Amino acid sequence: MGILDKHSILEKNATLLLAGSFLVVTIGGIVEIAPLFYLENTIEEVEGVRPYSPLELTGREIYVREGCYVCHSQMIRPMRDEVERYGHYSLAAESMYDHPFQWGSKRTGPDLARVGGRYSDEWHVDHFIDPQSVVPESVMPKYGFLAETRIEADYVQDLLLAHRAVGVPYSDEMIDAAVADFLVQATVDGDSDGLLERYPGAQVRNFDGQSALTEMDALIAYMQMLGTLVDFSTFVPDESR
Ligand code: HEC
Repeated sequence: MGILDKHSILEKNATLLLAGSFLVVTIGGIVEIAPLFYLENTIEEVEGVRPYSPLELTGREIYVREGCYVCHSQMIRPMRDEVERYGHYSLAAESMYDHPFQWGSKRTGPDLARVGGRYSDEWHVDHFIDPQSVVPESVMPKYGFLAETRIEADYVQDLLLAHRAVGVPYSDEMIDAAVADFLVQATVDGDSDGLLERYPGAQVRNFDGQSALTEMDALIAYMQMLGTLVDFSTFVPDESR
């Protein structure tokens, strides 16, 4: 019983117990937390994942501003009911450029991690203007004002710079072209070659169906790309990690 008897020394000495507990928690903390500082090693690189285009990123800002995350999650857990309802479970890489992440903690409405392409743009416009007009039992608030709020490109470059400051690899070229890329993505007959080269798979069109560039365009551009970057017909998880 030698070693167990020694434990009574700790139990009878509060300071020593405190020091001992602190030591144990520190070791545990280091083991769990330290690897996360080397995120490059912990996130598997996945083909297709790229930083958000300027218009998508602007839409994402509106999503955060409006608090959509209070009712919607963006993380499909690897459980059968979720995968059957929402699609392939979320990969860490899919939210690697999210600052702050939008995993959420509550689902009053459905998960949105793969909502891209599930509905038409017109459906989204109708749904945002009056959710109950398309889903009568919906408790989602109306967001019609987004279609009336024009957005100028004034802050787009700063927005990309802010995200670059926290680690998103926006190149100088992307920053320089931010305003042009922002405008061209919601324009039907613009020259979007540069945009598509910088942001492969970016969807280019007039998202809200009206001529003015509004917050509705940006939010729908964001909705329609969510979960679409990775091609899950060819994706093979790296089992070695
Ligand atoms: C009060 C909670 C609440 C808030 C806030 C909210 N939603 Fe919803 N949302 C819901 C509910 C409930 C549904 C399911 C019924 C429906 O389709 O309207 C839903 C459905 C949706 C859908 C359709 C998803 C699908 O797969 O059918 C989208 C897209 C959506 N919301 C986007 C948003 C966005 C973007 C915002 C922020 C601008 C937002 N929601 C804010 C509750 C909310």
